[in-house]
Amino acid sequence: MYEERIVSGMRPTGALHLGHYHGAIKNWARLQAEYPCYFFVADWHALTTHYETPEVIEQNVWDMVVDWLAAGIDPAQSVLFIQSRVPEHAELHTLLSMITPLGWLERVPTYKDQQEKLTDRDLSTYGFLGYPLLQAADVLIYRARYVPVGEDQVPHIEFMREIARRFNHVYGKELGFEDKAKAAAKKMGSKKAKLYAELRTRYQEQGDANALESARALLEEQQNLSAGDKERLFGYLEGGGRMILVEPDVLLTAASKLPGLDGQKMSKSYNNTVALRDDPETVKKKIRTMPTDPARVKRTDPGNPEKCPVWEFHQVYSDDKTRDWVQQGCRSAGIGCLECKQPVIDAVLAELAPIRERAQRYMDDPTLVKNIVADGCEKARELAQETMREVRDAMGLTYS
Ligand code: TRP
Ligand code: SF4
Repeated sequence: MYEERIVSGMRPTGALHLGHYHGAIKNWARLQAEYPCYFFVADWHALTTHYETPEVIEQNVWDMVVDWLAAGIDPAQSVLFIQSRVPEHAELHTLLSMITPLGWLERVPTYKDQQEKLTDRDLSTYGFLGYPLLQAADVLIYRARYVPVGEDQVPHIEFMREIARRFNHVYGKELGFEDKAKAAAKKMGSKKAKLYAELRTRYQEQGDANALESARALLEEQQNLSAGDKERLFGYLEGGGRMILVEPDVLLTAASKLPGLDGQKMSKSYNNTVALRDDPETVKKKIRTMPTDPARVKRTDPGNPEKCPVWEFHQVYSDDKTRDWVQQGCRSAGIGCLECKQPVIDAVLAELAPIRERAQRYMDDPTLVKNIVADGCEKARELAQETMREVRDAMGLTYS
């Protein structure tokens, strides 16, 4: 288990579908065994675009958490929480806004893109412009090392790295930094201080990335260093000031190989989804009515799997043998499309059965879900408050 934390959030869009499962949640479930993970419902982010319809948010929040749990996010391993229940995110957002150049926000590609795309609402708001900064606060407040997200979010991660760098640059300076860092190193004991110094030299003089990793791990392990001393030592390792906020790296999630039922991206707005909680009859019906290669008008017309979304489902769900059977059967008109879909139907049903069962447990007992979230909010808050103490201190807001 690494000490390095992972943070990721999702806007509450309601019940999740197979696209979310194959595109994100399965990845989260894998990561939670390797890292301390913090997963949250980005409800404020939902308001940046849906401020006029707040009534849908509450149900969407709970539906999404139920589906996370049902799909294998384990509250014993991961911290699950709701953004607005950790109000420190908003405090950090405000404080970071002081050092955020407007131009940086205006240049984030999603700003103009979304404004042009979502023409049915007015997005010339302060909240919408500040979206990436709120997202930066979401991550930086946990001093996360990695953020698992899809390609579309990369500019947002880049942006938060720049904000962290700027913050450390402006507020990480202190009088006698180098002496303080050296004194902090001594507190680890002479052996470890020596190792730290060696690793630092190797990193700074030879650019040795492994040395940087080892030095970071060494610092993570130290129990008896104060937060301030740790920041100094992290900062001294890489540069000239305290590292109060950590620059996170993106952990790129491979795009879901599973398209929607019609071959486009799976999305509720395209009406082409299989929801995780669809009942078996609905799943069967949806897959049976999936479009196929239009060349197969009659059963005797041969087809081409490359032109058929069902084939893409086979690539996710079927073994080599079944896939050979599809290729042969489709191209020779040896099998019919309904026949071809049956293994996909069976595999999707098998995948969803345990998920639906777990979801039912949480739907039958909503207090279970509320307790998991309450517990997660508390854990997240503790960590967020720790960071905020450092941030306020660095910004001169600790009055005594
Ligand atoms: N912007 C992300 C999205 O639309 C959601 C999000 C909000 C997020 N805050 C985050 C993702 C923090 C990762 C980390 O998908
Ligand atoms: Fe698609 Fe299968 Fe029909 Fe070929 S046989 S068109 S792959 S559903």
